[in-house]
This record gives sequence, structure tokens and C-alpha cells, in this order.
Amino acid sequence: MTRGTTNPNRLRRMDRWIASVQGAALRRADDPVAVDLGYGAAPWTAVELLARLRAAAPRARVVGIEIEPARVAAAKPYEREGLTFRHGGFEVPLDPAGTSPTLIRAANVLRQYDEDQVAEVWQRLCGRLAPGGLLVEGTCDEIGRRHVWVALGPEGPRTVTFATRLGSLAAPSDLAERLPKALIHRNVPGEPVHAFLRDFDRAWAAASPYASYGARQRWIRTVRALAADWPVVDGPGRWRQGEVTVAWGALAPGGPAPKA
Ligand SMILES: C[S@@+](CC[C@H](N)C(=O)[O-])C[C@H]1O[C@@H](n2cnc3c(N)ncnc32)[C@H](O)[C@@H]1O
Repeated sequence: MTRGTTNPNRLRRMDRWIASVQGAALRRADDPVAVDLGYGAAPWTAVELLARLRAAAPRARVVGIEIEPARVAAAKPYEREGLTFRHGGFEVPLDPAGTSPTLIRAANVLRQYDEDQVAEVWQRLCGRLAPGGLLVEGTCDEIGRRHVWVALGPEGPRTVTFATRLGSLAAPSDLAERLPKALIHRNVPGEPVHAFLRDFDRAWAAASPYASYGARQRWIRTVRALAADWPVVDGPGRWRQGEVTVAWGALAPGGPAPKA
């Protein structure tokens, strides 16, 4: 049995982002199913995902899927309208069979697997998505202050999002220890993600005069500078939340790393 560590409100940053970027697709879907894959020893993250998605897409429903049968049994009493729990894994079993999810969220699940399994798992999960569906796979700390996730469409990886509580941030590279499995072993010289975090820290240092206006203003200034050299795909509305989203292709392992 793998560790099932979870916490109430741990995934709030990820939920908020998902509701924002995938809310419209969930509103449009005939049967807007969101899967919380590997929800852990307690069902809190699935309960919260439902509440946050419903604010954006009132017909959304959430299916929590866990590979450990005891965790499914423990979650069953929390089922309610729009929220069910099932035993399963990367095959993403849904009822009725043939239903395709508009969202699959897998948080702190692939950390327990080997790096060389990631591509296959991604492919499998992407193959389960409805047209217009999104897979969000990433990692965070126990209380959700540092988060990094990859977003993938049916065709494959699209973006990487870094999200943090700004008040407690010493430097953007604090997020390195929360990189998802596909990137965490690639934070070494010569790899794009290493160059990205290096440039992020430099921009943060250069923006230190803005600290007197607050960490938020410093972050916004930092990301604006970073966007001159890296394909940042979101804007100030997201940066204000302590987020930044970058095109996957720029950080993908083995790609060309910009010079120091
Ligand atoms: C560390 S917990 C994360 C819980 C929650 N998602 C969170 O982020 O707080 C990881 C969970 O993933 C489950 N898990 C591991 N592999 C899985 C798979 N292939 N399918 C479904 N669940 C899986 C484990 O049983 C464990 O409960």
C-alpha cells in the first residue's frame, strides 16, 4: 500500500486554476465528469473539487478513483449528489462504461512512480479524455503552499504551472522540490527546467526593489521580466494569484536550454 497523505484545502490552488481554465469546457459538456484520481486516505480533495467546480460549472460531477480498496470504502459515506467514489487506477473506470471525463486531476500520485513510467501513464490518461478534456498532473507540499503541475490535452502536454503562497517565498526555486515526476530529476545544469528556475531566481532578485510594495507586486514584476525570454502563456490576472504558466515545450526534458 502506498502512502495516502492528503489534507483539507491542500489542492485549493490547483482547484482554482482548473475551475478557471476548464470551467467553460465543463459547462459545455453533456455529462461534465471530473475525476480525482488517487484522492488518498481521506476524500477531502474530491469533496472540495466538486464545490469549486460547481461554482464554475453547476452540472459538474466528480468521481474519486483510488487504487486502494480500503480508501474507497472509507470515502463511500461521503458520497452525495454529484460525488461518487470508485476503485480503480489509470484505466479510469467510469459508470456508465464509455463515459469520457472532461477533467482528470492526479495530484501527488505520480511522485510514487518511476520517471520512466510517466510518459506511458500520461498517454493512457490522455487517451481517456473527452474531446476538449484536460489532464492536470502535479505535486505540492502537505499544506498546498508550493505547487507545480503539468496540463495535458488529448494530444499531450501543453503547459507547466507554478503556483505558490507568495508571503512565504524566499525565491522561485523554492518550488523545485515540488516539480512533477517528469521534471524533478531534470533540475540539473543543461536541462531547460534548470535554466528556467535559474532565470526565475535572477528575475526575482532583480525585482527586489518591488518587495516594498509587497510580494505580489514583486512576483508580477518578476514574471513580466521572465516573459521576455520564456513562453509565459498567462497574464497578470493569474500572476496576481502567485501563479505563472509556461508552454511545456520550453521546459520539456532534453530540449535546448538557453545559455546562462
Ligand atoms: C499521496 S496520496 C495523494 C492524495 C491526494 N491526491 C492529494 O494530493 O492530497 C496518493 C494516492 O494515490 C493513490 N494511487 C497511486 N497509484 C494510483 C493509481 N494508479 N490509480 C489510482 N490511485 C493511485 C495512492 O493509493 C494514494 O492514496
